[in-house]
Amino acid sequence: MTLAQTQPRHSVGQPTKHDSAELHVTGAAQYTDDIPEPRGTLYAAIGISQQAHARLCSVNLEPVWNAPGVVAVITAADIPGANHLGGSMKDEPVFAIDVVEYIGQPIFAVAATTMEAARRAAQLAEIDYETLPHNLDIQQALAQQQFVLPSKFLQRGQPDTALQQAAHKISGGFHLGGQEQFYLEGMVAMALPREHGDVLVYNSTQHPHHDQKVVADVLGLTEKDVVIECRRMGGAFGGKESQPSLFASIAALLALKTGRAVKLRLDRDDDITITGKRHCYDIQYQAGFDDAGVLQAVKLVYASRCGISADLSGPVNDRSMFHADNAYYLEHVDIASYRCKTNSQSNTAFRGFGGPQGMIAIEYIMDDVARHLQLDPLQVRRANFYGVDGTRNQTHYGMEVEDNIIHRIVDELETSADYQQRRAAIREFNRNSPWLKKGIALTPVKFGISFTATFYNQAGALLHIYSDGSVQLNHGGMEMGQGLYTKVSQVVAEELQVPLSYIRCTATRTDKVPNASATAASSGSDLNGMAARDAAQQLKQRLTAFAASHYGEETSAVVFHDGEVQVGEQTVSFKELAHAAWMNRISLSATGFYRTPKIHYDPQTMTGRPFYYFAYGAAVSEVMIDTLTGENRVLRVDILHDVGQSLNPALDIGQIEGGFIQGMGWLTTEELWWDAKGRLRTHAPSTYKIPVAGDIPPVFHVKLLENNANVEQTIYRSKAVGEPPLMLAMSVFFALRDAVASVGDYRLQPPLQPPATPEAILNAVQAVQSAHQETA
Ligand code: MTE
Ligand code: MOS
Repeated sequence: MTLAQTQPRHSVGQPTKHDSAELHVTGAAQYTDDIPEPRGTLYAAIGISQQAHARLCSVNLEPVWNAPGVVAVITAADIPGANHLGGSMKDEPVFAIDVVEYIGQPIFAVAATTMEAARRAAQLAEIDYETLPHNLDIQQALAQQQFVLPSKFLQRGQPDTALQQAAHKISGGFHLGGQEQFYLEGMVAMALPREHGDVLVYNSTQHPHHDQKVVADVLGLTEKDVVIECRRMGGAFGGKESQPSLFASIAALLALKTGRAVKLRLDRDDDITITGKRHCYDIQYQAGFDDAGVLQAVKLVYASRCGISADLSGPVNDRSMFHADNAYYLEHVDIASYRCKTNSQSNTAFRGFGGPQGMIAIEYIMDDVARHLQLDPLQVRRANFYGVDGTRNQTHYGMEVEDNIIHRIVDELETSADYQQRRAAIREFNRNSPWLKKGIALTPVKFGISFTATFYNQAGALLHIYSDGSVQLNHGGMEMGQGLYTKVSQVVAEELQVPLSYIRCTATRTDKVPNASATAASSGSDLNGMAARDAAQQLKQRLTAFAASHYGEETSAVVFHDGEVQVGEQTVSFKELAHAAWMNRISLSATGFYRTPKIHYDPQTMTGRPFYYFAYGAAVSEVMIDTLTGENRVLRVDILHDVGQSLNPALDIGQIEGGFIQGMGWLTTEELWWDAKGRLRTHAPSTYKIPVAGDIPPVFHVKLLENNANVEQTIYRSKAVGEPPLMLAMSVFFALRDAVASVGDYRLQPPLQPPATPEAILNAVQAVQSAHQETA
């Protein structure tokens, strides 16, 4: 145990406000677009494909060159290095040559003296296309075996036999919509040419090291020649994990070509048209179960729309397979996963990273099973939870569920949210209300924490103490609003026992901390918190040794506390000690490093321990629908969520609220729609409806599970919080399905598919009504 842990916490665990809170609300926070531009900065725009699949017969860029203000125009021919965006498959070009594969694919880019001039010029290319057949449909891709990656299969037990022998069986399927990340700050990069042909790129990105590698490859340079910097993003949500490398590369190409700084900031419509989203899925299921609803066998087929290239589709679809169980023990199970190639944006990470798509299938099954047996869905869910006594607790991929706290969470929430009473009251309300119907659902979440690509589970930090005792912190993590910089600063403040105001966490840069992983998989604070702590502990040890020798005491007599350092009988301020150490030529800078222990997994068999631990939570949602219009409202939400021992309860609650609302958007109002030509028509807030302040439930109770230290040795026994709460929003979807079921006296399975838009709800209501009349 460190000294800090034996003392009352002075920083970690406090509900400290976000370190940029004032800057955010006053508009003073510098995002990439706000960084002062160097003299002569040019502005870039991208020329994109207008066809979903076509041969490029001719591309005449003369009119672009001739447009006012244009300084440079580039195509694939101007790429000195590799014309691809990296990734495992190297299957996506920076600029298309010969063939285009989706509407929105970059073909060329232009730099001009103003943003307006660049965007106007980009419209002027004369492109002759020879139209080829295109496909955006998952089923058609399956039939034609069009995949971006090999299919994967995961099986345990004897699912076929168990299914045959089960007392009850259900089967079904549904289409699950995708989701646009809709980060408020769109994609933006500003590239500055430097000497030796080197380049510095300010980029809005979750993964600077990836961008560094891609830019180096594209420019024909090495990683040492490229620096990527980002202080903060105005939201990312997974959308900036791989794809900002495209915009960094284009800005860098133009900067080196012109010798001037080049800024590329996407217009919202272009951003949505060009970049990938959450994968939509076609899901098929079969389940066998006993009279109590305990699953005997489950067979699942996941087929996802990946778009034109692999991007992150491999790990995203893997995570779906790993989350097919959610919180339930699946003894006999068979999962197939198909990664379909389509003529659409290359789909990518989005909060949950395939986990939500994997989990909703088993929740759909729970919901069907309960209705089939005429049981309370909560009772069926509970009957299937992983065990707590060492039985029924091995996942289908062979990992033990060691700290199963889902029973405790659900029990507490059932009581605190009055689930049973309200469920009865809702049934009563529905009997007396001809058109307006209510619904309720309680759904659990169990989410695996760690990158499934094991090597990503590492982090570095760089910590300086200056001669005045102020501290500069840098780590490989990215700030996207989630409060990572604040949490890591709290960790350093705790270790050094200094006020948070002594510490400044500065912009993440590839030349300060090298080879950093993406800030993703919710592991930002787990990884970077530990790396920063390592650096802080080294400096503290050095200062301790110095203080002991300088003041002639034993090292055990040196105690850091609240901005002061006690050395035997005397007390000096942290500032004085830092100054004295500097005067005595003690190094006050350290790098820290961390690698997650215990994890291992075989990607071939998909077995092992891909996750260090699980984060849990549960939510109860109550909704009302209008059966005449399909309009709906979420009336009340109660959440009990597990963040281990919170690093910062204020930030954690913010993440839970935000994640939940974002998940609600995915499952209710956000609908992506491509027309027959393959053009995405929902490319602006006018046609794509994300939740707004008015959609926040009027009653919204969010609580952190108490007395709940992580059993694993995570940073101050906390747990990751970024993604898991998104999946709590499944309670909204199943509450809506419950409300729809009421029109068929709860006997029929409503064919409701996510997103449950008013239209989808109305269709499901009418389907249930007409089937009910036939059976009545
Ligand atoms: N919160 C805000 N405000 N903005 C974001 O872009 N991204 C989410 C989540 N919370 C996001 C967010 C996603 S997808 C992830 S993986 C985590 O934050 C990443 O940060 P963390 O690892 O520090 O939790
Ligand atoms: Mo989050 S989807 O892992 O960036």
